Amino acid sequence: MENYLLRDELNSDIMDDFAEDPFCNPDHPTRISFEDITSAAYKIRSGINLTQCIKSHLSDMTGMDIYLKKDFLQNTGSFKERGARYALLMLPKEKRDKGVIAASLGNHAQAISYHGLLLNIPVTVVMPLIAPIMKIQKCRELKANVIIEGKDMAEARRVATKLAREQGLTYVNGYDHPHIIAGQGTIALEILEQVNDIDAIVVPTGGGGLLAGVIVAVKALNSKIKIIGVESERCASFSKALECGEPIQTNIEGTLADGLAVPKVGYNAWVTAKDHVDKMVIVQEEWIAVAILRLVEMEKCIVEGAGACGLAAILAGQLDEFKGKRVVLILSGGNIDTTILGRCLERGLAADGRLVKFKATVSDRPGGISELCKLIGSIGVSIKDVIHERAWVTSDVFSVEVKVVCETRDYAHSLELRELMFAHYKKVKFENLRSIKHSKPDITSSIAGI
Ligand SMILES: Cc1ncc(COP(=O)(O)O)c(C=O)c1O
Repeated sequence: MENYLLRDELNSDIMDDFAEDPFCNPDHPTRISFEDITSAAYKIRSGINLTQCIKSHLSDMTGMDIYLKKDFLQNTGSFKERGARYALLMLPKEKRDKGVIAASLGNHAQAISYHGLLLNIPVTVVMPLIAPIMKIQKCRELKANVIIEGKDMAEARRVATKLAREQGLTYVNGYDHPHIIAGQGTIALEILEQVNDIDAIVVPTGGGGLLAGVIVAVKALNSKIKIIGVESERCASFSKALECGEPIQTNIEGTLADGLAVPKVGYNAWVTAKDHVDKMVIVQEEWIAVAILRLVEMEKCIVEGAGACGLAAILAGQLDEFKGKRVVLILSGGNIDTTILGRCLERGLAADGRLVKFKATVSDRPGGISELCKLIGSIGVSIKDVIHERAWVTSDVFSVEVKVVCETRDYAHSLELRELMFAHYKKVKFENLRSIKHSKPDITSSIAGI
């Protein structure tokens, strides 16, 4: 309970929400209709890419018929362009001339900057300090007025709504403005045209705009299709709202799925989606890293953490009820900093048991370390790093402790390496050698919806 605000704080927070953003009134939230989505689809189609939704190579490995909706292939690398373009197109002339302002961790900011530039509408974006550098840079390239302020989204939003009032700009909430939700729902209309006989669609969920839009479109056309929302364990605000029966301020921690790091789901998104979501799944960060790695290796797709959450849920065994069924994963974004991608891939390899670290005490006489290297090479393992430790070794002075980082083919190969080291050296210690595939998913972190 300590993670969540007390009742009084919550009420004042609700009041703040409305004072800041007249399109998101907690007391009278707007339910998005199917007609809103079809109207959005018609209006935005000339400015949005029709992205592929094709069968995945991951189908055999997962035992499901998996299709990938590749919306990371939009111009600015995410589905957010759908809502952003629609919201801009719906502005009356005098509001277009004044310009818009948004608070965003990056994808909404890029989307609105890009379409603002195309439609000749001035755009200001407030991005919190935690926003990824690459996303900040992109907005600057798209000629937006970029303000970096606030430790998180809630603070950035306060800055943005204050500036909106002072400067007469229109504030466009990236997940809860009704036009944003309607725009995001257009992705579902495309999916239903592109793939037949779908059993489930898995939707990465942050503030809930994408989930709400997809639900409205899909349930109107084929109510049998299950809609699964997926969140990271570090920002599970929709699951928390379901548990509490209303949007609630949720603690956010640093996550690979930074696009989903919204502390409280939107009221319009909530009221639109809450009764129709079939299941919410909370995924562990390690599985997100493995999902990013699989998408790079097997699909040649670079997808950010938020976009990879659906696959993470499947790999973790949290959607096993869909084995043998047809499941569409929305790959919602691809904007990941290159350095973070490198770290994710390393984490993914470690979680997979393919990047291993061990210490061994070996002879310090000539040839001691070369023998260790030969042994490792003899089974086809490659060495990434070797560090020697002489001063603090407690065994004889003719010994040296060596720390080694190796890359192996798979977990079984890592076990073979461990056997070999134990057979040749008396003092060997492997750190964290395990494969996430062989550890059971945490079933407490999967919450069934209503
Ligand atoms: C890549 C990506 N996927 C999913 C989402 C979730 O969208 P929503 O906030 O509408 O739930 C976001 C939100 O920014 C995102 O950037």
